[in-house]
Amino acid sequence: MSDWNDDALAMLFPVAADVPAKVRVDVSKHGPRWLVDGEVLPWTGQAREVRSRVAVRLGPAVTTMLLGHEAQLTADDAKLAVAAAERAWKHGEGEWPSLHVESRIAAVERFAAAVEAKTDEIATLLMWEIGKAWSSSRDEVTRSVEYIRNTVKELQHLRAADLSVQHGSAGSKQHYARTHRRPLGLVLCVAPFNYPVNEFLTTVIPALLMGNVVIAKTPRFGVLANLVLLEAFRDCFPKGVVSLMPGDGRVVIPAVMSSTELDVAGNPSGVVDVLAFIGSEGAANAIMRAHPTPITLHKILGLGAKNPCVVLPDADLDAAATAIVKGGLGFNGQRCTAEKLVYAHRTVFDALVTKISTRVDALEAGMPWQPGVGITPLPEETKLDAMRALIDDAVSKGASVRNTNGGRGAFSIMRPAVVAEVKQGMRLFHEEQFGPIVPVAAFDDVEQVLEWQRHSPFGQQASVWGQAASARALVRKFTRFVARVNVNDVCQRGPDSFGFSAADKSGFGTLSLKEALLSFSRPVLVQAQERAVLDAFLSRP
Ligand code: G3H
Repeated sequence: MSDWNDDALAMLFPVAADVPAKVRVDVSKHGPRWLVDGEVLPWTGQAREVRSRVAVRLGPAVTTMLLGHEAQLTADDAKLAVAAAERAWKHGEGEWPSLHVESRIAAVERFAAAVEAKTDEIATLLMWEIGKAWSSSRDEVTRSVEYIRNTVKELQHLRAADLSVQHGSAGSKQHYARTHRRPLGLVLCVAPFNYPVNEFLTTVIPALLMGNVVIAKTPRFGVLANLVLLEAFRDCFPKGVVSLMPGDGRVVIPAVMSSTELDVAGNPSGVVDVLAFIGSEGAANAIMRAHPTPITLHKILGLGAKNPCVVLPDADLDAAATAIVKGGLGFNGQRCTAEKLVYAHRTVFDALVTKISTRVDALEAGMPWQPGVGITPLPEETKLDAMRALIDDAVSKGASVRNTNGGRGAFSIMRPAVVAEVKQGMRLFHEEQFGPIVPVAAFDDVEQVLEWQRHSPFGQQASVWGQAASARALVRKFTRFVARVNVNDVCQRGPDSFGFSAADKSGFGTLSLKEALLSFSRPVLVQAQERAVLDAFLSRP
C-alpha cells in the first residue's frame, strides 16, 4: 500500500471553536506540581507541555492541544520522595504501618469518596490525554472506585479468616497458631498509559491498605488525570506515605530503585521492597537492573501479551467476529488483554474474515466525546508509523488488508486494519501490535496453533471459540501455557474478583481484589503448643 493518508479522517478533527464547552480543559488549572512528604508542591523547575493528540484543525493543518504542564523532577527530587517514604515506613514501625487496619480502611474509604467526587474531571482529562472514549474514560474511574471499595471488603474477609486459630500436630505435639499479615515496605508503582488511573489505583490502594508506603511514577500519558488526585492523597494519608512523581521515568525511576540503606554489617541493601509495574518487558528489566539487591525485591509485573483467539469450524462465527472486534479493537487495540492474533480454521477462514471486516467497517471514527465512537485518536506520536510498518511487512510477504481503508489514517487517527493470511516470518505473527490491527492466520490442525503457543514468549490469555466436544481438548492444552482461557468469550482482566496473572514473559504475580492484598503483604504466624497460651499472648491489654 502506498498512500496511507486519508483526508476524510483528517476532517474529523474539529476546529478549536467547535470543541464542546463541557469537555474543554482549562490549561491554567493544570500547572506543574507534585506530592512529596505530605505536601502538594508547585514546581518551578523544568516542565513539559502536556499536549493532546486529540487534535484540532488550524487551517489545513492538524495540531495538538495544550492541556497543562508536567514537572520534570530530577533524580535529587526523587531521592526526597525516597527519604520521605523511609521516614513514614520507619522500618515498619511508622505511624501508617502500625495503624490499626480499621483506621487504614477509614482513610482509604475517605480517599475513594474523594476520587468519586472528581469522576468527571478525571474522565475528561483521560479522554484528552489518551484518547479514550468518554463512556470508557468514565468507566475507568467508576471501576476504580468500585475496585477500592471491594478491596476493602476483601480485606475485612481476609482479616476474619486470619483471626481464626489454626491447629496442627507434629508427632505427639499440638500446635496452635494465628496468622497476621504484615506490609512489605516501600512499594514503587508504575502504571501504563492505557489505564493510567485504574491500573495506578489497583496497585497503589491494596499496597496502602496493607500498611506499605508508596512512591508512584505517573504515566507519561494520563499524568494530569493522576495529578487531580494529589490533594486527596495528601488529605487522606499521613506525611510521606504516598508520593507522586511526574517527570521522565528514565530519570526518576532509577533514582528511586538504586537507593540503598546499610544493614547492621554495613552492607548496602536496596530500599525499594516491591516493584509493581505494568508496561513493557524492556522497561521492567531496566528498572529491576537498577536495584542494588534484586534478591530482596518483590515484584508484581504485567507485561506484554500476544493473546491468540482460536476459531474452530463449529464456532458461532457471528458471535466470534463480534467478540474479536470488541476484544481486539476495544480502545483501539491498546489493551494488554486484547486478542492479538486470530487463528481461524481454514474451512471458516474467509467467512470469518468477511464478518470481522464488515464489523470493523461499521466502527465509527471520531473524537472521544462523540457518543458511539469506536475509533479514536492514538496518544503515541509514533503509533501510526509503527502500525504501518507492521502492515507493510505482512503485505510485502503475502498477507492482505481485507477491510475498507484498513490502515489508512490522518495525524493520530487510524482505521483498523484486518490483515489476513498472516504467517510465520511476518512480524504480526509474533509481535505484540498494541494498536488497531486484527491479524488473522489460517490453520488446518489445532496442533499448529499449539506449536505457535509453545514457542511464544508470552502466556497471558487465550480465547477458544467452538462447541465443547471439539474445543475441550484445546482448552485443556492451552491451560499449560497461559494464565486464563476464555471459552466462547473475549480475553479480559475482569471481573476484578478473578485473579489476573500471566505465564512466561507476560507477567509475574497476581492482581485482583483479594490477590493484590496478599501480593503486597507477607504472612507471619504466632504459634504456641497450648491454645490458652496463644490466646493469652495475643490478647490486647
Ligand atoms: O492493558 C491491560 C489491562 O489490564 C486490560 O484490562 O481487560 O480490563 O481491559 P481489561
